[in-house]
Amino acid sequence: MNLLITGGCGFIGSNFVRYWLEQHPDDQVVVYDKLTYAGRRENLHDLWDRPNLSLVVGDIADQALVRCTCQEHGTELIVNFAAETHVDQSILGPLVFTDTNVRGTHVLLEVARELGVRLHHISTDEVYGHIPDGHQSVETDPLAPRSPYAASKAAADQLVQAYHITYGLPVTITRGANNVGPYQYPEKAVPLFSTNAILGELLPVYGDGRQMRDYAHVYDHCTGIEAVLLRGQVGEVYNVGTGREMTNLEMVDIVLETLGQDHSLVRHVTDRPGHDRRYSMNVDKLRGLDWEPRYDPRQAVAEAARWYAGNRWWWEPIRSGEFRDYYERQYAGRLAGKVEG
Ligand code: NAD
Ligand code: TYD
Repeated sequence: MNLLITGGCGFIGSNFVRYWLEQHPDDQVVVYDKLTYAGRRENLHDLWDRPNLSLVVGDIADQALVRCTCQEHGTELIVNFAAETHVDQSILGPLVFTDTNVRGTHVLLEVARELGVRLHHISTDEVYGHIPDGHQSVETDPLAPRSPYAASKAAADQLVQAYHITYGLPVTITRGANNVGPYQYPEKAVPLFSTNAILGELLPVYGDGRQMRDYAHVYDHCTGIEAVLLRGQVGEVYNVGTGREMTNLEMVDIVLETLGQDHSLVRHVTDRPGHDRRYSMNVDKLRGLDWEPRYDPRQAVAEAARWYAGNRWWWEPIRSGEFRDYYERQYAGRLAGKVEG
């Protein structure tokens, strides 16, 4: 099969490309990526010399380039990971989230419609919004996003469904829980806390740290997407996670314990505006496709923290480069100031 993997140089996309080529070594994979700060060629450093993997640097909102890339490579399936993905960045500068996540996805749908290509879209549990205790989101729940990031992902998710209903476009959607694992940009909580702990720097926990997340290993997200691509029903949505949550304070404890660091590094700082307290998804529908997660959330967080300890070559240049400006902007005041959250 000929696949176009958009956002394949990012965290989950690069893990998926690696996984897919291991499982399907005869497939042709084209990575289409704008190479934003989060998109890094080195995430696939060991694979670029493979004859069946290539990179096109481009924007998913560039319809002419997407069309001609698909035509040139005979694309049969688009898997769309490309997105702006960090909630805090969406609070600082939201418009690019609409450009990429909404318009970019819409352009992919238009090209897929024009060329008759199947599209699988990577959505997120954040589209369901904050989930009260006692409930787990199922795929038919209404979408109720609460951050600019989540709202842009919800819009994309609904456009994908609309193209199936209106045009009969063969689409599938997976809604992933918080992923952790190798090559996650250190703006996200687990790699941020892991790399700070390794450097002996403070860990900025938003508010009381009792927010709940399902920290799922990226490997299980990849196997979940594969299950949907191979056995899922066209037009359907599937949640992908472990179905189990922990508080951020529990996650921090696992990171510190795994890395042999002291709890005195933890700082409660001013909370994120509109911070969702809890995400929780029911994943029975995906289980119905003969899929099971390999990792529980505790193992997933510990395994991720160990990866950062063993792969300083990957994150040290990021942390000492452009990331510093964002870190200062996001955390300097918070770490110097009083807790308000
Ligand atoms: P990431 O930020 O690590 O990577 C995003 C990738 O998309 C980068 O390679 C970037 O260069 C590329 N990109 C951004 N804008 C682009 C554009 N306009 N055109 C082409 N490429 C562009 O993100 P991630 O964490 O790997 O997330 C991948 C997908 O999974 C996203 O759609 C995200 O919403 C979704 N998701 C992420 C998580 C998570 O925990 N990280 C959970 C559920 C769903
Ligand atoms: P994050 O990795 O940004 O994912 P999301 O916001 O998509 O869930 O954050 C995970 C959790 O960790 C979330 O509840 C916010 C919290 N968090 C902190 O407490 N401190 C931080 O510095 C960051 C980045 C996140």
